Amino acid sequence: MSIYDDQEKDIVRSNAGRGETFAEIMQRRMNRRSFLRGTATASAVFMISACSQAPTETATGPTTAPATDAPTTAPATTAPTTAATAEPTMAAVASDFTFSAIPPSPATKDETVVPAGYAVATLLRWGDPLTPDAPEFDTNNQTAEAQAKQFGYNCDFIGFLPLPEGSSASDKGLLVVNHEYTNPELMFPGYTPGDPTQEQVDVEIEAHGVSVVEIQRNAQGEWSYNKGSQYNRRLTGTTPMTISGPAADHEWLKTSADPTGKDIRGTLNNCAAGKTPWGTVISAEENFHQYFANLDGLPDDDPRKAVHKRYGIPAEASERVWEKYHDRFDATKEPNESFRHGWAVELDPYDPTMTPVKRTWLGRFRHEAQTFGIAPSGKVAVYTGDDARFEYVYKFVTSGTYNASDRQANMRLMDDGMLYVAKFNDDGTGEWLPLEFGKGPLTEANGFTSQGDVLIKTRLAADALGATKMDRPEDIEPNPVNKKVYMVMTNNSDRGKEGKAGPDAANPRAENKFGHVIEVTEDGDDYAATTFTWEIFMLCGDPEDDSTYFAGFDKSKVSPIAAPDNVTFDLKGNLWIATDGQSGALKLNDGLFAVPVEGPGRGHLQQFFSSVAGSEVCGPEFTPDNKSLFLAIQHPGEGGTFEEPISSWPDGVQPARPSVIAIRADNGGVIGQA
Ligand code: FEO
Ligand code: CA
Ligand code: CA
Repeated sequence: MSIYDDQEKDIVRSNAGRGETFAEIMQRRMNRRSFLRGTATASAVFMISACSQAPTETATGPTTAPATDAPTTAPATTAPTTAATAEPTMAAVASDFTFSAIPPSPATKDETVVPAGYAVATLLRWGDPLTPDAPEFDTNNQTAEAQAKQFGYNCDFIGFLPLPEGSSASDKGLLVVNHEYTNPELMFPGYTPGDPTQEQVDVEIEAHGVSVVEIQRNAQGEWSYNKGSQYNRRLTGTTPMTISGPAADHEWLKTSADPTGKDIRGTLNNCAAGKTPWGTVISAEENFHQYFANLDGLPDDDPRKAVHKRYGIPAEASERVWEKYHDRFDATKEPNESFRHGWAVELDPYDPTMTPVKRTWLGRFRHEAQTFGIAPSGKVAVYTGDDARFEYVYKFVTSGTYNASDRQANMRLMDDGMLYVAKFNDDGTGEWLPLEFGKGPLTEANGFTSQGDVLIKTRLAADALGATKMDRPEDIEPNPVNKKVYMVMTNNSDRGKEGKAGPDAANPRAENKFGHVIEVTEDGDDYAATTFTWEIFMLCGDPEDDSTYFAGFDKSKVSPIAAPDNVTFDLKGNLWIATDGQSGALKLNDGLFAVPVEGPGRGHLQQFFSSVAGSEVCGPEFTPDNKSLFLAIQHPGEGGTFEEPISSWPDGVQPARPSVIAIRADNGGVIGQA
């Protein structure tokens, strides 16, 4: 969990809505499901035996730097990595994985760890030049102009899109990487919190957004990026973009700088994302609220103020104080600017000239990601969550159908359909409730004036429908092999606290410190269905903790895990889970874990990768052949400062640099099964 994630969760009071509480439901459901019996007293048994499986010092030394192919530019250094060898702490049993789980790393370890037989190389670091005219990274002389042409900060989502377009190539492609937020205290020497210079602020704005970078793999399985590629592109906090769908004509999108309401500047806090079936990327604007300030200056009778409050716009100064230099971040001066954020943004990595589009049918909230499934009818379902305590899980279903031979038509699919919010029933069933203007409570009598108005106020509409309040929804992703949908709830330490919603069937633990994973089966395996069934797949934590559950697998054989966040699936449908917050929950570094969801190994969770001090692990992404795995190492060294660092990853010098790494098997085999 990043410092900023933690802070913003204290700003929002997301139980302001009316959604149900489920104490009775929990009790009935727990009576029915034996695996939950141990959770009834979960809050009383959170005695964590941190580091119960202490790391073994079995390092085999640093990996070698990858060879590079002209004319590409590869990072000059490769991060120190430990390949765990000998005496694995947990034997590989009952799964099709061939690696042995690595021991977890203590939260102070500033070195990555992978299983024996695997190698790690740094591919893209914050500040690496992406265009021919981009300068090399210069810690002491960073400028906004340079940053706009360099790889951004705090990489999160990673998408690999093969080249040529439409192929399933694994040796050449475009890497699309989100840059969620900035840590100015780590980026700039001499940074003064609360009193930044304009140059620092403008560098930060350009360090946000998205990078598109062409990469290629050589015969040895080593990756490098192509600095001269025509595809390389940065989207930042100032990039021109437009907006579509029902909210696009809303009065509240107009500002003094943009009376049209459709000439948007920039995308911010791009956390996770998803690849569409037609080869574009839809990037999530997550904690957008934190860039705005001074809501208290807006009169109480202004109807926008209550909406901004529901979204957590700060009452006074913002954390980064961008409003000092840019009026658009001041909610008193520009009360509509923040309505232009909190959306999902579609970009076409194959077309560097495309103007990105904010797709309002996907709703406005703190988007974690958008992930895609094609229904039997050809309609496209988009799963997405609102990552804050007691917020909701959503699904958009298109009106039109996917056409594999008409990419331009597919790119209009996001502009017509219906947005739904999830309600989890006590009996293991669930419903997708439509956020349809004029239906149920979503009427003018209740303050909703149009479909666009419903979407701008998505959170309030979901409150009115009585959706189920969740434990911080992170990735919500369909498994292309077994068709089930995996919904990751990262944690919610407020669950059950006084004045807050108590445990329920789908969020069964009070003061949920470790997070859980819900497995949803859409009725008829139809992603467009409006009803579903669900199970708890995993209750995370130290397996020695009685409140944990790993799909019924023998807990003596699983790795400890907390704060699940981003997920992906390999070609066999195994679930891979990256974490964000283990250092707080378990005193361990974040990592990447693999777990089968079918067969005798179902629930056999094993740690595959461990990250460095202060970081979280994001973006797990395989190449189509599953022989390369990309990970984003976000905010290495968070918790320290430039002057008092806790990490010098990846290069052994200051500052630490958020980076994308590539993992391969020494024998060139499939990751996890080499
Ligand atoms: Fe940026 Fe919900 O993680
Ligand atoms: Ca996330
Ligand atoms: Ca995260």
